[in-house]
Amino acid sequence: MIKVRVPATSANLGSGFDTIGMALSIFNEVCVEESKRLEIEVIGEGEDKISKDEDNLVYCAFYKVFEKVKKKPEGVKFTLKNEIPLARGLGSSSAAIVAGLVAANVCLGFPLSPEELLKLAVALEGHPDNVAAALFGGVTICTQHPELRCVKLPIPDLDVVLAIPDFEVKTSEARKILPKKIPFEDAKTNIASVAFLVTALFTEQYELLRIGMQDRVHQPYRSKLVPGFYEILECARQAGALGVALSGSGSTIIAFTRSARTVAQAMEEIFKSYGINARTLTARPQDRGALELIELQE
Ligand code: HSE
Repeated sequence: MIKVRVPATSANLGSGFDTIGMALSIFNEVCVEESKRLEIEVIGEGEDKISKDEDNLVYCAFYKVFEKVKKKPEGVKFTLKNEIPLARGLGSSSAAIVAGLVAANVCLGFPLSPEELLKLAVALEGHPDNVAAALFGGVTICTQHPELRCVKLPIPDLDVVLAIPDFEVKTSEARKILPKKIPFEDAKTNIASVAFLVTALFTEQYELLRIGMQDRVHQPYRSKLVPGFYEILECARQAGALGVALSGSGSTIIAFTRSARTVAQAMEEIFKSYGINARTLTARPQDRGALELIELQE
């Protein structure tokens, strides 16, 4: 039996649109066993929603690795134990893709390198930020131009508060509302923000996260998807958040802090004042990704 754990991920961290991702201490686990046919069991988040057929995302990714090495999987049983909420900007689809790719690579005796797995994952997901952090863990920075490259940054020694509203945002929809062009001033401001974000992480000057997580590339357009968005950011900062942003394409809002309880309360209250139920989770940045969270059992 093969077991792979994949961390949740928060993409963008504000200014690093489609570039920066961070792994979090919330996990989906996939167990793969031999079987006569395809069997998929889902326990936990999404158990009523996730397909148990051949179009299951874990299985599609698993199949891709076999295809790449010109093989076909025999019958297989997947047991998926999911902690990552679906369609909330916490990388649930990336986790499924990475789980399938890594599990297949283990089954086949590691024919693909980590870079090749990343390439397949990006092709399946469409953007690299969540899949890179899910595979490698930590904070990842990716570019696709002139070629796909990924580097890893140190994780901050801070708590992460996730305010997860009870409504979904589909990434495909949240990408449709982005403009084709952005004002030059906004691009310039974001370049400075990303530089501050990377400096904050490298030098542990976490007070720089406030500037570093400010964004003018995607959040201004997506803010309408989350009622009270800018008010929540402001109240979280006042309650002790060092940096706060939309997690991925939402609907979750992510805050870095040393006073998790106060920040969580402040965020929940603003959501409530807009008539929205939101649960809050406190997590930690997670340094190991799926490639290091593999277990083999007889
Ligand atoms: N970078 C992607 C986006 C992440 O913001 O659309 C989606 O989770």
